[in-house]
This record gives sequence, C-alpha cells and structure tokens, in this order.
Amino acid sequence: MPAWLVTGGAGFIGSNFVRHALAHSDVRVVVLDKLTYAGHLENLADVADDPRFHFVRGDIADAASVDLIVREHQPRALVNFAAESHVDRSIDDPGAFVQTNLVGTFVLLEAARAHLARLDEAGRDAFRFLHVSTDEVYGSLGASGAFHESTPYEPNSPYSASKAGADHLVRAYHATYGVPSLITNCSNNYGPYQYPEKLIPLMTLNAIEGRELPIYGDGGNVRDWLYVEDHCAGIRLALERGRIGEKYNIGGKNERTNLELVDAICAALEAAMPAAENPALRERGIAGYRDLRRFVDDRPGHDRRYAIDAGRIRSELGWRPGHDLETGLSATVRWYLENRDWCAAVQSDYDRGRLGLAGG
Ligand code: NAD
Ligand code: DAU
Repeated sequence: MPAWLVTGGAGFIGSNFVRHALAHSDVRVVVLDKLTYAGHLENLADVADDPRFHFVRGDIADAASVDLIVREHQPRALVNFAAESHVDRSIDDPGAFVQTNLVGTFVLLEAARAHLARLDEAGRDAFRFLHVSTDEVYGSLGASGAFHESTPYEPNSPYSASKAGADHLVRAYHATYGVPSLITNCSNNYGPYQYPEKLIPLMTLNAIEGRELPIYGDGGNVRDWLYVEDHCAGIRLALERGRIGEKYNIGGKNERTNLELVDAICAALEAAMPAAENPALRERGIAGYRDLRRFVDDRPGHDRRYAIDAGRIRSELGWRPGHDLETGLSATVRWYLENRDWCAAVQSDYDRGRLGLAGG
C-alpha cells in the first residue's frame, strides 16, 4: 500500500487531512510533525490505533531526519502542511517563519529530489509533491475582484512572504529539476481542532467565558471562509488528479467582514447556549454575546480583503464545497462547546492575549 508523508499532520488542517485521507484513500499515512505550540497528538487521537497511521516527531528543516524518514517509508506523495501559520506571531517573531516555511520547504524539496533520483521510472511517474499554501501570498484586494491562479504575488506580512517564497521554490524545483509538484492556495479555514489563536475559535471561547471579543481596526476587513473538510477534499483531488506543475486556488465564496462573522458566531452560540443560561455572562450582568464586542488597535499591515476564484479546481477536478458558512459555523461552535478538555490541553501556555503589535 503506498504511503503519503504528511508534514504538519498534527496541526489544524493537517490532522483533518489525515482523517480525510485514511477515510477516502487506500494509503498509509506517515505524519512528520515537530509538535510546536500549534501541533498536538490530541488532534490525532481518533486515528492513533489505525494500522495505516504512523507518527514521527521531527523538524522539516532537519535534513538528516527528513532523509531518514523518506528512505524508511518510500512515500509516493509528500503533502506539506508544516508551517508557522499565524500572521500575528509572524509580526512578533518573523525568524521562525523564515526557518520553517522557507528553509523547511527547501529541505523537503531537496529530500524529494534525492528520493526521485533513487526511484525507477514507474516510481518517478507516480510521485507527487503537494505544497499547501495560502491566498495571502496574493496580497490584499480592493472592494471588488478575486484572486485567480495568475494573480501576481504581493505578500504583506512576514507569514505571507515566507509562504510566497516557499511557493516560488516549489515552482522552481518543478521547472529546474522536474520535481512533480502542485501548489494549492486556499482561503481562511475554520472547523474542529483549529488552534484558539485564530479568529473563530478565539471569539467562540472568549464569548463562552464572558471575555471581550477583540475586533481589529474597524472590523471591515473581509475574509473568504471555507470549512476545513472542504479544503481537505480539494487537496486530495489535486494530489490524485491535478496537473503536475499547476497551482489550484481553493475557496468557498463565503466573504464576510470580521464584524459580520463575529455577529454570526454570537448568533450560533446563542442558539447552542443562550447567554441568559451562561453563568460567565450572568455574573457580569451581560445580556447578550454581542455586548462583548470591542474595537481594538489594528494589526500592522492588515490585508483588507481576500476572495478566491476557485474556477480552475471546480472545472478541472470537479471540486465543490459541501458546507455553507451558517451550517459549518454552528457545527464548529458546537464542537468547541463540546471539547473543552481539548481547548484546555492545547492552551496550557497561551492565554488568548493580544499578539502581533510589535510592528505597530
Ligand atoms: P497550524 O499552525 O494549526 O499547524 C501547523 C503544524 O505544523 C503544527 O502541527 C506544527 O507542530 C507543525 N510544524 C510547525 N513547524 C514545524 C516544523 N519545523 N517541522 C515539522 N512540523 C512543524 O496550521 P494550519 O492552520 O493547520 O495550516 C496548515 C497549512 O495550511 C500551513 O502551511 C498554512 O500556511 C496553510 N493554510 C492555512 C490556512 C488556514 O486558514 N489555517 C489557509 C490556507 C493555507
Ligand atoms: O487566508 C488564509 C490565511 O488565513 C492562512 O494562510 C493563515 O494561516 C490563517 O491564520 C488565516 O490568516 P488570517 O490572518 O486571515 O486569520 P486570523 O484568524 O488571524 O484573522 C482573521 C481576521 O480576523 C483578520 O482580518 C484579523 C481579524 N482578527 C483576528 C483575531 C485573532 C480580529 O479582528 N481579532 C482577533 O482577535
């Protein structure tokens, strides 16, 4: 049975992808993950006993470890999720982003090149390197239009610049060395197992606990939201049927301002756990979750609007998102309500305090 090497498989999207791959493809899945603050074995607890699943703790920027894993498992595909992923942290500590996102991707590409050189022709034909990237590489949109695959790169944060650099390396390794690679550029994901530094879980947990809901700037920044399972399905389609050397944009056409989204989270929470029955709000005399909203200092370099044109993956690979924002959001809010132990475990050294003002 072929193996897929999934880097960053203990994080949010990676762990959802591991579950998706084991359920939908006849493959072994080998996860390589450093287990940073964002990576947790709890995210993979339900697949830990699957004989097709194997976990290795390690750093993608450590060439010797990567080489060893590739030689041992002889992967037919390498799917790279491993990254420092939070824009606010990239403002405070950009070096970690360059090291993992750029140097780490370079190390993986070198390992893939060496692996390909050892394979026979059939092995080389079958191998794929899929690099999971972001729409943030394209920069910021005005009031209209959407990112398509040929939109020029204009990254604005250290995070998006490091992801853009990695995308360029992947492209160059295809053009120069023939590494059979694909890149997917996706919009904002949400769903189970997302680390509570990101907008949706942070607002959900703050609201549950009666804490303020910090909205950056005027709350008018727009993001294009996609349920994580739909992203995973798109990645698997690109891996199994995508054209080598191509980029595929993935997005759900669910544009919302941050203020609209926070209001939608408050409404989903009100349906699942009415504020009147929440002791954390009652104690503070707060009648509704929306009363917790506060406008706070903006994120430095804050991109105004993202929107994805997913026409290529739709027409070439038949991809369609299966969740609309309202059903996906209420399922997500319920998941956080029902998984408070997970929330406590992953936040042992994080208090959801403000990050990313160092550059302001
Ligand atoms: P995450 O922060 O939840 O998970 C990242 C994972 O990578 C963690 O398990 C972490 O331990 C691991 N990791 C970090 N550095 C590592 C290293 N040096 N070696 C090995 N493992 C390492 O991130 P996420 O939100 O799941 O994002 C996954 C990927 O998808 C990233 O590449 C990100 O750029 C991309 N992406 C994310 C979104 C989104 O909305 N979250 C959207 C589009 C693309
Ligand atoms: O677009 C894809 C990207 O989406 C991914 O590449 C990144 O890995 C992922 O983190 C995400 O980046 P964003 O910066 O868009 O996500 P974040 O959840 O940090 O913020 C979403 C929006 O909400 C953004 O406009 C900033 C705002 N925000 C965020 C937080 C954490 C707030 O207003 N308040 C907050 O407390």
